[in-house]
Amino acid sequence: MTQTTASQSITIALSKGRILKETLPLLEQANIIPAEDIFSSRKLIFDTNHPHIKLLVIRATDVPTYVEYGAADMGVSGKDVLLEHGARGLYEPLDLNISRCRLMTAGLVDAKPIPDGGRVKVASKFVNITKRYFASQGKQVDIIKLYGAMELAPIMGLADCIVDIVDTGNTLKANGMQPLELIAPISTRLVVGKAAMKMKHSLIQPIIEQLGEAVERAK
Ligand code: ATP
Ligand code: PRP
Ligand code: MG
Repeated sequence: MTQTTASQSITIALSKGRILKETLPLLEQANIIPAEDIFSSRKLIFDTNHPHIKLLVIRATDVPTYVEYGAADMGVSGKDVLLEHGARGLYEPLDLNISRCRLMTAGLVDAKPIPDGGRVKVASKFVNITKRYFASQGKQVDIIKLYGAMELAPIMGLADCIVDIVDTGNTLKANGMQPLELIAPISTRLVVGKAAMKMKHSLIQPIIEQLGEAVERAK
């Protein structure tokens, strides 16, 4: 039996949650198939049909961190997560064209105007994106960090508006809110660590190419 050493192996960090369901068919099209059913397992590391390729299944927000530090060679991550993380030490060679949505500001449909000189309170889990966006508009805002259900914040008077993902707009509508300004269109990206790209190029390049072909076929 031949042994696979770390320098000959590739670890791909996948975002669990809604991206995973759309990622697995693309990986399968690129002939990377988990050795067991990921959804019915409590494992975090999965073997594949290739002895040298392993999959990690972790929280979406942790993917860039694993890839940045080289704990994973490649990853699958939403552009929103990459913008928030800063994507230090990462290449972004491929738009996987899945989990498309928009990063937007949103407010209550019947929002009261902010009094002159008053500072706008913005609730978001995207603190860095929010800071950058309002700074680019020359606006100083107070940012309130939340971890989910941002739509609740304006209703309860915690914030004047939010920065969040909008897809169908149903969540905003169901909570008496409306989308306001587009910050960025979002889709899921393949990321590769800079060190891995250099050291493991011959293993990584075919995976990028096959996934690229799978993305084209899915269009
Ligand atoms: P966690 O639940 O761990 O805090 P999360 O809310 O970011 O993470 P998901 O809801 O699975 O995790 O979202 C993962 C990614 O899917 C996001 O980073 C974004 O790129 C995309 N996404 C999020 N919400 C939607 C949506 N409603 N429609 C389409 N894509 C979405
Ligand atoms: C995401 C996002 C919005 C919603 C937008 O939430 O944060 O709340 O989807 O989608 P829509 O425009 O189609 O309604 P998610 O369901 O992931 O919950 P979370 O707050 O736990 O991330
Ligand atoms: Mg979510």
